[in-house]
Amino acid sequence: MRHLMSPLDLSTEELEQLMDLADDMRADPQKYADCCHGKKLATCFYEPSTRTRLSFEAAMLNLGGSVLGFSSADSSSAAKGESVSDTIRVISSYADICAMRHPKEGAPLVASFHSRIPVINAGDGGHQHPTQTLTDLYTIRALKGEIGNLTIGLCGDLKFGRTVHSLINALVRYPNIRFILISPEELRIPEYIREDVLDQNNIPYQEIERLEDAMPELDILYMTRVQRERFFNEEDYLRMKDFYILNAEKMELAKENMMVLHPLPRVNEISVEVDDDPRAAYFMQAQYGVYIRMALIATLLEVKVC
Ligand code: NCD
Repeated sequence: MRHLMSPLDLSTEELEQLMDLADDMRADPQKYADCCHGKKLATCFYEPSTRTRLSFEAAMLNLGGSVLGFSSADSSSAAKGESVSDTIRVISSYADICAMRHPKEGAPLVASFHSRIPVINAGDGGHQHPTQTLTDLYTIRALKGEIGNLTIGLCGDLKFGRTVHSLINALVRYPNIRFILISPEELRIPEYIREDVLDQNNIPYQEIERLEDAMPELDILYMTRVQRERFFNEEDYLRMKDFYILNAEKMELAKENMMVLHPLPRVNEISVEVDDDPRAAYFMQAQYGVYIRMALIATLLEVKVC
């Protein structure tokens, strides 16, 4: 039995296989419409979510399976003080696979130690978000043809943004990747990512503050929201929240084939006028999240894919 806690739990070969399967599922959904018949996915979400939870549920329904779960800590027994390890022990006898989101870093990992079913980390605090990374990689591969030979700008809240941490972890395994890390001083990438991931793998990167300076060089711009819920005080959040606003004027500085990604939800950091730019790929990215999660569920459940 396998769990998914970090994108590094999958080798690059396994990732390719997963993306190939997602491609096939996208091209011929009918072929897979029954492959999880009789299987249940539990979505245990202790933190808000729209895309991740609903795309997991849509993915399981597309495979002919069914779903159960809760969408906030308040509506689960966590509100009564139950531990994640007790919860997962019980859910192991109600479902065949579980996607778990939790505000505490490492909570899904703890759950996996006590689980009899595969557990997927659907976001743990400011730490990791591996299925968003699968979605990001899959979107990059679909639009660019390959993952490699890219200058990637990561912009916004690089300190608390778990999607950025997971994505960097995953991308350093591909050839000729260079990062431009664009953030205010207070929201710089954590030291453990800089030292243990970027420096360890000899990955070229720059840290800068002005988005305009990076725009002309980028093949991909990955925008992120300032993670309000992880700030210690509201004043700091209010000071930072509109630090970056990508608009049509800034898009003029970018390459014609640059693509803009964002894990969503967007707050103010991408002006709605950018949505009509053909380089805006974030809504497509959200859609691709369903196919890659279908592929992941089928793979972890080891169902026979027809
Ligand atoms: C992200 C998350 O939850 O980390 N959202 C998502 O899953 N698509 C990004 C965010 O909330 O800013």
